[in-house]
Amino acid sequence: MLLEKLKESNYTVVLTGAGMSTESGLPDFRSSGGLWAKEDPSAIASTDALNRNVEKFFEFYRHRVIGLQSCKPHGGHEILAKWEREGLIQSIITQNVDGFHQEAGSKNVVELHGTLQKVHCQSCGKEYNNDKYVNEQYQCECGGKLRPSVVLFGEMLPEEALLKAAEESEKADLFIVFGSSLTVTPANQFPLIAKQNGAHLTIVNMEPTELDLYADETVHGRKIGEILKELHVSLR
Ligand code: NAD
Ligand code: APR
Repeated sequence: MLLEKLKESNYTVVLTGAGMSTESGLPDFRSSGGLWAKEDPSAIASTDALNRNVEKFFEFYRHRVIGLQSCKPHGGHEILAKWEREGLIQSIITQNVDGFHQEAGSKNVVELHGTLQKVHCQSCGKEYNNDKYVNEQYQCECGGKLRPSVVLFGEMLPEEALLKAAEESEKADLFIVFGSSLTVTPANQFPLIAKQNGAHLTIVNMEPTELDLYADETVHGRKIGEILKELHVSLR
């Protein structure tokens, strides 16, 4: 059904989660081998940790930056970028902070949770490349602490990204989720906004998600990379 919907839809919006990048080698959060299986997210990826558990915070994010730098977008990211160029999809809303959609060539990308490609000073806001963390340089020239430019637990999401994501979701007549458990607010609201505005909702995720009961179509138990490759071949 997804193949037909892709061909006939006028405005297709994609929402991706960590499951989009596991085939690039980055762990997701809530699968058995996920990040939150080993760490308590609120104790490590939160503003509280940045202020009160800073050594552990730096170590955790330095490890994620090093992991990120040793991975790259996979074929599925490249297919989504091709589909944007061919006008098959119009935008991607992502919860991911790896920057892989943009690296693969996607242009219209909304980053709900910021990016781990950059760090910035908690005091003056000056931005740096994430190499600072690789080199264990955690201080800004102004003396302030350098933090990853991601949304930490307990922080508000960037207003502009929220508005753009809502706008895109309202315009969609086809809304496809790739690789998210849809457990986190407000990211998990956008499929519902699209549905309320008459979109066809397809959820592609290895495991069942919290929004399956609202979906017109669910695809579980298969890897996103393989599904995208098959769809791409069939669209030829
Ligand atoms: P949460 O589920 O508690 O809520 C998300 C955040 O967005 C909260 O700060 C909440 O106040 C705000 N929010 C909720 N609904 C909103 C709406 N409709 N409009 C505007 N703001 C709204 O999430 P959390 O546990 O506080 O974590 C904050 C966010 O940071 C989550 O989205 C989480 O996924 C993200 N996060 C990212 C990383 C990372 O490394 N990228 C790590 C941890 C958490
Ligand atoms: N193919 C299909 N599905 C996959 C694949 C794959 N190759 N790899 C993983 N998955 C699925 C998993 O089954 C899991 O249900 O992707 C889903 C990823 O869900 P989460 O780990 O919860 O990640 P996500 O939904 O992106 O988490 C949302 O929570 O902690 C925060 O900021 C973090 O952005 C993240 C947010």
